[in-house]
Amino acid sequence: VNHLLGIKYITKADIDLIFETADHFKEVINRPIKKVPSLRDITIANLFFENSTRTKLSFELAEKRLSADVINFSAGASSVKKGETLIDTVNNILSMKVDMVVMRHPNPGAGVFLSKNIKASIVNAGDGAHEHPTQALLDAYSITKKLGEIAGKKIVIVGDVLHSRVALSNIFALQHLGAEVKVCGPKTLMPKYIESLGVKVELNLRKALEWCDVANMLRVQNERMDISYFPSTREYTQQYGLDKELLDSLNKEIVVMHPGPINRGVEITSDVADSSQSIILNQVENGVAIRMAVIYLLASKIKQQ
Ligand code: CP
Repeated sequence: VNHLLGIKYITKADIDLIFETADHFKEVINRPIKKVPSLRDITIANLFFENSTRTKLSFELAEKRLSADVINFSAGASSVKKGETLIDTVNNILSMKVDMVVMRHPNPGAGVFLSKNIKASIVNAGDGAHEHPTQALLDAYSITKKLGEIAGKKIVIVGDVLHSRVALSNIFALQHLGAEVKVCGPKTLMPKYIESLGVKVELNLRKALEWCDVANMLRVQNERMDISYFPSTREYTQQYGLDKELLDSLNKEIVVMHPGPINRGVEITSDVADSSQSIILNQVENGVAIRMAVIYLLASKIKQQ
């Protein structure tokens, strides 16, 4: 397979190989010269049809650390605004001898759709509420760096699971790696199919936190809800917000994660986000090595063709 469209489509062996490769690149980017010449013959287009800070910059940096040629495209400043279709847009970019496409798109399944219509490797950088595979890989990788391994660990994903591509990709990745996964949040923010994925739902945040080794606190995706949504932000924070008092009252020290961007004071307070139990910035740091690994492994397949 020459794409990374979702964690659902890959195996534990694929994840293990990505992690091994990321270990190598993590060491490389800590050297004084952070760059390797591996992909001097590869050109990558980063196509962002939706806003991003971490994913966009992390992919660009990963590609540059591998010495690939990189072009960046933001839909808002492009001819998409004049009505050009997704396939026309991408085929025009590919005709400039581009080998790989990294794409973020607001529509679930956009990456899968594109993979059936173009001739290039595609990496999904987030498609609507479907998948965000490199986020799940960097999350799982960050847990292994913090706790040694994932098999047998208890991990709770808290919050707006309904609108979250991060939740879905994390569930698939963590299950591949042998973790026990629960989700916690208001019923209105749980997809109906969630238990069919083999995860248990816990509605009470304290109980979920007392059970887990790791809590991944999701962002409340206000942009995907209207103002009549229940719970309101204030009600959400009262029932599902993690503050220092709650964190310190638990019977053990748990690891706190968040994919970013954080709504400070909504999902977590600043003193939790910035505490020694938080690995939020380690997640961002590890994202570069993980994305280098994904791109390197896909490019190796292109070169074999
Ligand atoms: N975690 C994440 O995807 O952040 P961005 O939306 O800033 O890329």
